[in-house]
Amino acid sequence: METECEWLDNEHRALRKCWHPVARSEDAVEGAPIQVELLGEFWCVLRLNGQLAAYPDQCPHRLAALSSGSVVDGTLQCGYHGYRYAMDGTCVQIPAQSPSIPIPPRANCVMAAGVEDHLGLVWLAPENPIVDLPAVPEHSDPDFVYCPLDSWDWNASAAQMTDNFLDLGHIPFLHLETFGVTGDEVVPEYEVERTDLSVRVEYSRVTKALEDSLDSNSSSKSGSREIRRNEVFVFTPPHHVYIYIDYVDEGAVLAISFAHQPVNSSTTRLWCTNYRNDIEDTPEERKEATKFQMAVGAEDKALLERSITKAIPLDQRYEVHTKADRITLEMRRVLIDLVAQANE
Ligand code: FES
Ligand SMILES: [Fe+2]
Repeated sequence: METECEWLDNEHRALRKCWHPVARSEDAVEGAPIQVELLGEFWCVLRLNGQLAAYPDQCPHRLAALSSGSVVDGTLQCGYHGYRYAMDGTCVQIPAQSPSIPIPPRANCVMAAGVEDHLGLVWLAPENPIVDLPAVPEHSDPDFVYCPLDSWDWNASAAQMTDNFLDLGHIPFLHLETFGVTGDEVVPEYEVERTDLSVRVEYSRVTKALEDSLDSNSSSKSGSREIRRNEVFVFTPPHHVYIYIDYVDEGAVLAISFAHQPVNSSTTRLWCTNYRNDIEDTPEERKEATKFQMAVGAEDKALLERSITKAIPLDQRYEVHTKADRITLEMRRVLIDLVAQANE
């Protein structure tokens, strides 16, 4: 990789001071430790008595995976030699030595700075986070149907995927098979609102009508209606994209949460959730809604995975920027500021 500018990849040190999704909340079952990979490191995530905790997935004794252990008497017991850990990571028992011998402090686990349930996901911050968790108002709105997609691994960096989901200019090229239309190539003027480390943009564009875009049986969308949709994009660093799409003519709203787990230098796990106010809360309708999202995502994924560089440059001079790209340029500025703050 080029070294003349700094790059943000999935293992950049600044990301240790941020929140990242690592699982759906229901996958962190009470009393059953799980292993997750984040920023190229493995963690053991445990829910015990409703509380979440995360430890490096290496027992301090002989570095066995703590996630292969089990809960015994309210402690996490390593599966190898049975060391027991309290929820705060303190080693409280070493079975192989007499209880009269003190437990060395080095036997304690160092916990992750934060683990929380939020938006139906478990979020983990290895070090004290310098940015708040992202907001998705529809998550707690009873008018919206919650449609989570299965987790989806992409061979791309989380920053590239975030960049892609915020990008305004690619729809009439990459997404013609799903919702894009030709004739809408020029990106009109739009305002970029920057607040602290977040970015918000309101935008309006022409696409296929929602019901035609959702017709996943039709690969050729000739004859589909074109409608205007109003959109709001919110970027919360390091890698969350919220999109609110108001299909004004159709009386429908689709809100999308794109949460990214930077697994390691080559892989990002996408936790995408759709929220719809125009469908019934049935498994069939939820599935149909997510099918459309997956068809669109597959178009983005195929393109991003062809990129050799799994990172984005933290130097504005390295790429070409036009007025159309102001949203993703601001995203880069936020990430540059985030890295500077993480270094302080
Ligand atoms: S490796 Fe965990 S108790 Fe020995
Ligand atoms: Fe796209």
